[in-house]
Amino acid sequence: MADRKTLRTTAGAPWPNNQDSLSAGERGPLLIQDYQLIEKLAHQNRERIPERTVHAKGWGAHGKMVITEDISKYTKAKCLQLGVETPMLARFSTVAGESGAADHERDVRGFSLKFYTEDGNWDMVGNNTPVFFVRDPYKFPDFIHTQKRHPKTNMRSPTAMFDFWGLSPEALHQVTILMSDRGLPESPMHMNGYGSHTFSLWNDAGERYWVKFHYKTQQGHDWLSNAEAETIIGKTREGYQERLFNTIESGNYPRWKFQIQIMPELEAETCEFNPFDLTKVWPHDQFPMIDVGYIELNRNADNYFAEIENAAFSPSNIVPGISFSPDKMLQARIFSYADAHRYRLGTHYETIPVNRPKVEVHNYHKDGTMNVYGGIRSGNENAYYEPNSYADEGAAVEDRSAQEPPLRISGDAARYDHTAYDDYKQVTDLVMKVMNEEERQRLYANMGGAMAGVPGPIAERWFGHLKRVHPDYEAGVRKAWNEANADAGYDPNGVPVTGKTPQATSGSHAE
Ligand code: NDP
Ligand code: HEM
Repeated sequence: MADRKTLRTTAGAPWPNNQDSLSAGERGPLLIQDYQLIEKLAHQNRERIPERTVHAKGWGAHGKMVITEDISKYTKAKCLQLGVETPMLARFSTVAGESGAADHERDVRGFSLKFYTEDGNWDMVGNNTPVFFVRDPYKFPDFIHTQKRHPKTNMRSPTAMFDFWGLSPEALHQVTILMSDRGLPESPMHMNGYGSHTFSLWNDAGERYWVKFHYKTQQGHDWLSNAEAETIIGKTREGYQERLFNTIESGNYPRWKFQIQIMPELEAETCEFNPFDLTKVWPHDQFPMIDVGYIELNRNADNYFAEIENAAFSPSNIVPGISFSPDKMLQARIFSYADAHRYRLGTHYETIPVNRPKVEVHNYHKDGTMNVYGGIRSGNENAYYEPNSYADEGAAVEDRSAQEPPLRISGDAARYDHTAYDDYKQVTDLVMKVMNEEERQRLYANMGGAMAGVPGPIAERWFGHLKRVHPDYEAGVRKAWNEANADAGYDPNGVPVTGKTPQATSGSHAE
């Protein structure tokens, strides 16, 4: 039998009794001297940390990235060289639901990957969709407000969602994918991941290539209808957690093929569309897929809170050979995530084991809460500032080889109109060319159903956009909207029918 361990307070003192409180007389009251009880209750009060402001509900696991092709002409990143295997963490998520939300809700899914490379952590914080709802970061907080709860009703509001989307036609592409089969995957294993933004790769010669990252499910795309999802949610709210955890536990390790699309740096200037617009894909025929390798998830977390809830992913975590692009959304995200982590997890969130790089870290950041590494980490106790004279005695020095090539930019500093782009062509391609008739019919039904109760003028504005994609799209969704309104107790203008209580519409909508 293993040696028994002594129960101790956080200060290390043996704990005599963890069942009976210290009371004045058998019937109480209690003595404040029972500091073990006070410590226990105080710790319980601090068990919850702020949930992520978006993507609060998530599921994750550990695994590896394996590079099977030579892409060294595009990148010097050590983790992307032929034959290299890199340990990684993945976290999937829904966007709008709180941390207790049901897993099988129609929503975009987050697809976050953290690669523990020999040059530090590279985070790929993407979604299961190749595009996004907005193309200017000014619009992100407002967009998220429409996905969260109405301040008065405390319910989700399809009216707010379609009002915002109708006034932001750049959302058409993403809303179409959300309402298609891909908006409700059977499990995180049955969906693709996309870096979505354009990033860049740079090679040993200092040449930059624009890149899109794709992770293609090897389990096949599998999706659910709203009705099937409602049945599952009626039985379990943790459907994704169960599927992912049990699949990995049983030794069936899910895989995704890792592919990229490449655009030489100067081609961005002549490209017929803005390659840095997050509401657009790069067409496959112009920018063919290039195989890179695969990722595999093969180990569940030992402790969900420590390894998944505490995980801090940030698009700002890049390594030499991989970099950003001018995409305005990406630029804003470079700021936003580390800021969120400092608030959600604490100043030195990167010292939490799951976030800790696998390389030894030396820098001149000093003190602060959660400084668990004992002060300055420069490598020399006298070097607590820079420049200093202790480089030959262990003090950390810069590595100029990590400097990326200059980014070519041009233009005046101004607020450029974000609406000056076509919002329809790629949506038409998706709905009318990529989808088959059955997929289209399901898209119409899902979208019309999600619009039940949306007031007439707001719905009409949205229909106007659908019509510009294709008249069939508008007609199909309008028909489904009328049917959904009748079912849910609304008249054809989305106004509640007198004497009827409209059905709750916050559950299976476009959260
Ligand atoms: P392609 O015909 O070469 O590509 C179509 C792609 O659409 C497929 O490869 C698949 O992407 C994806 N797809 C299939 N069904 C759905 C669905 N229900 N919802 C969302 N995506 C689906 O043509 P293009 O490259 O010219 O793209 C045409 C349209 O396809 C685009 O406007 C865009 O809406 C969509 N698309 C394009 C992607 C791209 O990177 N080019 C990626 C995803 C969608 P996958 O192979 O990634 O599964
Ligand atoms: C999470 C901000 C756009 C994918 C988050 C979080 C914030 C945030 C603050 C919570 C982080 C945390 O607490 O750990 C923003 C802003 C955006 C933006 C300001 C635009 C300006 C996007 C886009 C994508 C995306 C375009 C995908 C392509 C994710 C994912 C998570 C997340 C996957 C969850 C990360 C995890 O698993 O921990 N976002 N976001 N976001 N975001 Fe965004």
